[in-house]
Amino acid sequence: MRENVLSNKEEYLGSLFSKENETKKLSRQFAEELGLARISVSAAEAQLIQVLIKMQGCKKFVEIGTLTGLSAQYIFDALPEGAELWTLEKDPRHAEKSAEVFAKLDQSKKKIHLVVGDAREELLKLEASGPFDGVFIDGNKAAYLDYLLWAEKNLRSGGLVLADNIFLSGSVWGEATQQKFSEKQVRIMSEFNERLANPELYESAIAPTFEGLFVALKK
Ligand SMILES: C[S@@+](CC[C@H](N)C(=O)[O-])C[C@H]1O[C@@H](n2cnc3c(N)ncnc32)[C@H](O)[C@@H]1O
Repeated sequence: MRENVLSNKEEYLGSLFSKENETKKLSRQFAEELGLARISVSAAEAQLIQVLIKMQGCKKFVEIGTLTGLSAQYIFDALPEGAELWTLEKDPRHAEKSAEVFAKLDQSKKKIHLVVGDAREELLKLEASGPFDGVFIDGNKAAYLDYLLWAEKNLRSGGLVLADNIFLSGSVWGEATQQKFSEKQVRIMSEFNERLANPELYESAIAPTFEGLFVALKK
C-alpha cells in the first residue's frame, strides 16, 4: 500500500500518462470502492509494461493478481490480434468487478480468460496452454518465488517476466516502512530479486518506479 500523498514526480508522470478510457476509469472506480485504489498500477507504470510487451512480441500472456482488471486492460491493449491473456485472481469480489469490466471490452480478435482461484493452484492447470511469452507478477508477495519458478518452467526462451512491488516499500534493503511486511515476505522477496538478478538465468533490470518493477528476459 502506498502513502496517500502523491509526490511531485508522481503528479508529473500522472499528468503525462493519465488519459484513460472509460473501462480503465471503471476499474479504478471499482478499486476505489473496494478501498484498494492505490494498489493498481499507475498509468506511467502501465505505459512501460505495454512498451515491453510490444517489444517482446508477446501473444500468450499470464497476469497474477487481477484486482479490478486495470493492468489486465493495459496488457490486453498491448497484445496483437489472435493473442490470449490469462489473468488470475483469488478474491471473488475482485474477480466479479473485473468480469464486469472485461464484458465491456471487444474480445472478437483476442481473448481475456479470467481465472478465479488461488494462483498457485490455477497456474498448474494452465500449463497445458503454454509455453507463454510473458508473465506479470502482481499477486500475494509471499508467493512471488513460487510464481517465478512456475514462469521459469512455462515461459519460452526469451519470455518476459515483469514483477511489481519488488522493493516492498524499502523493506528489502532494511528500511523501516509505514506498511509492515512479515519476515517471511521480506525473505521471499529478497530471494526472488536475487534469482531474477542472476545473469545465468535472466537478462534483467529494475525500473526504479515508486514500488520497483523487475523486468527480465528468461535465458
Ligand atoms: C496489487 S493487486 C493487483 C493489481 C492489478 N494487477 C492492477 O494493477 O490493476 C493484487 C491482487 O492479487 C490478488 N491475490 C492475492 N493473493 C492471490 C492468490 N493467491 N492468487 C491469486 N490472486 C491473489 C489480490 O486479491 C489482489 O486483487
